Amino acid sequence: VAHCGTLHLPKGLDKPSSQPHIIFIMVDDQGFRDVGYHGSEIKTPTLDWLAATGVKLENYYVQPLCSPSRSQFMTGRYQIHTGLQHSIIRPTQPNCLPLENVTLPQKLKSAGYSTHMVGKWHLGFYKRGCMPTQRGFDTFFGSLLGSGDYYSHYKCDSPGMCGYDLHEGEEAAWEQDQGIYSTSMYTQKALSVLASHNPKRPIFLYLAFQAVHSPLQVPARYLERYKSIPNQQRRKYAAMVSCLDEAMRNLTLALKRYGYYDNMVMVYSSDNGGQPLAGGSNWPLRGSKGTYWEGGIRAVGFVHSPLLTKRRTRCRALIHITDWYPTLVTLGEGTLDENQSLDGYDVWESISEGHPPSQGLTDRLNPFTWSISLIEFYI
Ligand SMILES: *[C@@H]1O[C@H](CO)[C@@H](O)[C@H](O)[C@H]1NC(C)=O
Ligand SMILES: *[C@@H]1O[C@H](CO)[C@@H](O)[C@H](O)[C@H]1NC(C)=O
Repeated sequence: VAHCGTLHLPKGLDKPSSQPHIIFIMVDDQGFRDVGYHGSEIKTPTLDWLAATGVKLENYYVQPLCSPSRSQFMTGRYQIHTGLQHSIIRPTQPNCLPLENVTLPQKLKSAGYSTHMVGKWHLGFYKRGCMPTQRGFDTFFGSLLGSGDYYSHYKCDSPGMCGYDLHEGEEAAWEQDQGIYSTSMYTQKALSVLASHNPKRPIFLYLAFQAVHSPLQVPARYLERYKSIPNQQRRKYAAMVSCLDEAMRNLTLALKRYGYYDNMVMVYSSDNGGQPLAGGSNWPLRGSKGTYWEGGIRAVGFVHSPLLTKRRTRCRALIHITDWYPTLVTLGEGTLDENQSLDGYDVWESISEGHPPSQGLTDRLNPFTWSISLIEFYI
């Protein structure tokens, strides 16, 4: 295998790049209590292992809703600066992540990364320029909205208004659609992206699962282990999380098998708190998805990577979803422009070496900053 690589590559390209592979996993609506290591009755052996042997982010904050959180991840800026502070982007709404803003994949692409997205976008699609492949991703396979059917990949917004929502690049993915449960389908797709890329060149893979958002749909075999949970919704939700955990196991094994693992940074994040009305739990945190209580904005998150200086630790620094942009662009040896006025901070040292947060991070604890975000939500 080794000599195949050197035989076919142009000179100079056979040396592994120093830039780490970046594998970012975004999960939809996983609650604070919905992971084994937070004391859940839901079994997540893979997530527990990845987090335990990496760094658990135990003071990690996101936005209370999907599009706002994802816009912050993509731009490193609070949603008040991108006009996405109101709610999610609705299916019929002519709105998307502002085209002037340079996205994380655009930054990594100009630093030499191959950029691939599999899964849920939900940052607008009303014109071609808004599509993931126009916003920095070389390839895209997934849904443009959220909460569609896990098998048929149809999304109904109101009665009678339904649309097919599985896309490959900028076209409907009718041909590739075999009606497979999306958690498995997206995992298969992520594996094929990894299999067809040369691990000596840096890759950014953004895998944004549809799971574990409602509708509560799951293949029957994952339900068996949760017979003891009396609440039907919670039981189905638990099974969906188990399937997600298995997907993470398959992904991790593939990262090892295809030669990415040793030079990889994996970040795992939920996009907002859990929805107790659809099986989620944020206990002991108050509130749920859609609220600015801790249960809405304090998320499950961890970093797993052999490149971490100190592993098997818990990071108590205040880490925010806007931080991934400067952190990952810097790790990827890309450049940040001064006029970007990012809201996030490069937090790699806090995560990797356990350094106390920088001054900038502690400034965020300023109550004034928090009250602004509350006002933003209620008006
Ligand atoms: C994980 O891989 C196994 C073996 O290939 C497969 O049977 C299973 O469906 C995969 N699970 C998911 C969630 O993709
Ligand atoms: C992002 O977009 C907003 C609004 O469209 C604009 O005011 C701002 O200058 C942009 N910022 C960057 C860094 O691209």
